[in-house]
Amino acid sequence: MPQRNRDSIGNILIVAISVCLVASILVSVAAVALKPAQEANRLLNQRQNILVAAGLLAPGQSTSAEGLGINELFDLFDVRVVDLRTGEYAEDIDPAEFDQLRSARDASRSRRLSGDEDIATLRRLENYGIVYLMRDDAGNVEKTVLPVRGMGLWGTLFGYLAIEGDLVTAEGIAFYRHQETPGLGGEVENPRWRAQWEGLKLFDDEGRPAVELVKTRAPEGSDARRHQVDMLAGATLTSRGVENLVNFWLSDLGYGAYLEKLRQGEA
Ligand SMILES: Cc1cc2nc3c(=O)[nH]c(=O)nc-3n(C[C@H](O)[C@H](O)[C@H](O)COP(=O)(O)O)c2cc1C
Repeated sequence: MPQRNRDSIGNILIVAISVCLVASILVSVAAVALKPAQEANRLLNQRQNILVAAGLLAPGQSTSAEGLGINELFDLFDVRVVDLRTGEYAEDIDPAEFDQLRSARDASRSRRLSGDEDIATLRRLENYGIVYLMRDDAGNVEKTVLPVRGMGLWGTLFGYLAIEGDLVTAEGIAFYRHQETPGLGGEVENPRWRAQWEGLKLFDDEGRPAVELVKTRAPEGSDARRHQVDMLAGATLTSRGVENLVNFWLSDLGYGAYLEKLRQGEA
């Protein structure tokens, strides 16, 4: 009987194709099987960032001083979708299904911003935005957390801004995704810099967004200082980006109309 040549081109191809096939099946099965776990982790991470901004968790922690976990703490929030154009709740949109960033990319659910409007360099603005509200036992809003985003130097910064019950004073800010340089623009994550946001007055007396990132803050006790945060050293462009994005989302183009309704007790 003639010996089959095991090193023939045909044999090599069959082995190579079989290995590729088995490997691709394994990768596909793993990708499908791991998807729910990845999604659960993404959600947990998002919730953790909201809680950090609201001062309910320290960065990197997954339990509060009282021993409450991320999901337990997050359950204290009422999650709503708001029509940014009117400031009214969009009762027909399920917050659990709503993807704000995806709607910003969808021409039918967003609009192009003009150059003058687009201080945060978003290009498009979604019609609806999500809000996270914590109320006290009497139903008064204690904390409001808003998603914020805007251009830094190297890319878009994504974060959450938490506001106290007066809807004027910041509770904190947390950026969870950005492309700024570690040690320069990346210092947006620095807890010492972030601490300056607690107690910051976000609006001036006329109700206009008034956050400023400055090289030298005005003297202690002055009116101007209430709105000021130190610029990040060596990162003028990131600092300008943070100032612009916060003021954008607090303006009437962002959550301004909604915050005004909340202040008036209409939301
Ligand atoms: C490698 C490298 C990384 C940089 N990263 C940042 C950054 O993340 N954010 C920023 O605002 N500037 C960054 N800069 C500096 C800017 O290019 C620019 O010089 C600076 O923002 C100018 O203002 P300043 O030096 O007064 O802060 C970087 C520069 C270099 C060379």
